[in-house]
Amino acid sequence: MNAHIADRVQRSFSRSFRSYHDAAGQQAQIADRLIREMQVCGAPRCFATALEFGCGTGHLTNLMTSAFDIGHLTINDLSPEAVVTAMAANADFLCGDANVIEWPPQPNLITSASMIQWLYDPATFLQRAAEALTPGGWLAVSGFGPEQYRELVKVGSTASAPGLCRSEELAAAIEDQLEIITCGETLSVLHFETPRDVLKHLRRTGVNGRAQKVWTKTSLADFTARYTRNFKTESGVSLTYNPTWIVARKRY
Ligand SMILES: C[S@@+](CC[C@H](N)C(=O)[O-])C[C@H]1O[C@@H](n2cnc3c(N)ncnc32)[C@H](O)[C@@H]1O
Repeated sequence: MNAHIADRVQRSFSRSFRSYHDAAGQQAQIADRLIREMQVCGAPRCFATALEFGCGTGHLTNLMTSAFDIGHLTINDLSPEAVVTAMAANADFLCGDANVIEWPPQPNLITSASMIQWLYDPATFLQRAAEALTPGGWLAVSGFGPEQYRELVKVGSTASAPGLCRSEELAAAIEDQLEIITCGETLSVLHFETPRDVLKHLRRTGVNGRAQKVWTKTSLADFTARYTRNFKTESGVSLTYNPTWIVARKRY
């Protein structure tokens, strides 16, 4: 990730660290889905070592440590605030850009939920993860696809994440190294009373790190009018999430 962007993404998530956990209902659901997919696909109950990227406030960390016995867990995040997640999980904390930090060698499990979309090249990142895994090791990762926040794209927002990929693209990147056990994606549409509530939701979940926009009275009124004109429904204005996921295992 470009260091300047990483800096902005980090500041944005650090700012929203306290509000994130409760506001990020969609991210909580996708973390839950990822763990359930692993279980349905026959993941072992025990992993000697595991490495999680972009742990944030721990939606995935908590589910992972309840579902599996993990001998030694290392978790990472750009935001130093996430050290509390590591302390609660009794895990080692690696602070910094997942692309830049040194990874512990040959983990048996690599996971990440709702983080890879912040990378410019999620495919290369997954290839590095596939390479790092121990033979027989598992990979379980979720991100977001090109339909993520399609409403914002339509009204000209620059806030969207740089690495929105379809699940098949993620699978194609690693299928030479790993056996793809399952991959998929879905659309989930939330409704908010007003476009300003959409902006509040984005701020509370820390996803506006790339939006450099400073709102003026005029630009906010223009955003509100365009968003309402295009996306008003009987239930309020819409905001689309497009979670994607992949579970794979390294061949022996
Ligand atoms: C949407 S949150 C997801 C948090 C958690 N995994 C969850 O499922 O709720 C994304 C997290 O990824 C972190 N992040 C973004 N880019 C990162 C990078 N390049 N390296 C490490 N962490 C990163 C952010 O700081 C943030 O905590």
